[in-house]
Amino acid sequence: MEVVERIDEMKQLRLKLAEPAGFVPTMGYLHEGHLALVRQARAENQSVVASIFVNPTQFGPRDDFKQYPRDTERDLTMLEKAGTDTVFMPQVAEMYPPPFSSWVEVGRLTERLEGAARPGHFRGVTTVVTKLFNIVQPARAYFGQKDAQQLIVIKKMVADLNMNLAIVTVPTVREPDGLAMSSRNSYLSHQERRAALVLYQALCLAQKLWSQGEKDAGQLRRQMVALIRRETLAKIDYVSIADPETLDELDTVKSPSLASLAVKIGRTRLIDNVVLE
Ligand code: PAJ
Repeated sequence: MEVVERIDEMKQLRLKLAEPAGFVPTMGYLHEGHLALVRQARAENQSVVASIFVNPTQFGPRDDFKQYPRDTERDLTMLEKAGTDTVFMPQVAEMYPPPFSSWVEVGRLTERLEGAARPGHFRGVTTVVTKLFNIVQPARAYFGQKDAQQLIVIKKMVADLNMNLAIVTVPTVREPDGLAMSSRNSYLSHQERRAALVLYQALCLAQKLWSQGEKDAGQLRRQMVALIRRETLAKIDYVSIADPETLDELDTVKSPSLASLAVKIGRTRLIDNVVLE
């Protein structure tokens, strides 16, 4: 496995990689969720590139950019075991040399849910992902369903801007009790870790009510909110039942609908989702 920090080195190495190349962008502090992306990329391509870059432009001023967990040695060992050929690991100054001034904005989809809660977040994501696509030139790039809105936004960007690659969706990987794996789970205390289970429980409740025939989206939201409120450590940011293409909130649940939520457990903000279909 080769590890490169510079853009020109990455471009040089790329010329020698076997086609097609699969790409897995990450911010590091890897877990089984990230590795599921790498394994799928390995199975579907002749070469696999992963990136580790904690992208400052997608963090707001009050977000956790400085505290974001990092463990490069461990990440590299995991990526190598999962069959990665090349890891691109640039410094911030390499990706954003001053005076950097060009941005990719996807518009309406990015104003909802995570975008409403974290202004500027998706502009940072779409800009860095475009830069990474331009540098790595993959045939396919792999993204987790865990970040459902990120996936929807990136698919829209690729379609609108005629980018020459396929976006592949990988299902959410969960802990045995159902908590979606996330680098931010490492912030949780023992007690908070137990409380964090309400996110998945609320999504399971939505799934159950929907499968029993409940079509009133307001009713689903209210039941989810009521369940989460019983957990004293949890503070709801949003609970949404939305159209998976437009992210418009629904009155009547249809198939498929995206049930998603953001909840703060203590000081840690967690997100999760399921598709009702
Ligand atoms: P990061 O949070 O490190 O996630 C990298 C990729 O792993 C994303 O596609 C995310 O959806 C996926 N992932 C995370 N947890 C997962 C889980 N439990 N199951 C399945 N997939 C999971 O998302 C980002 O980084 C950044 O925004 C990035 C796209 C790298 C741009 O900076």
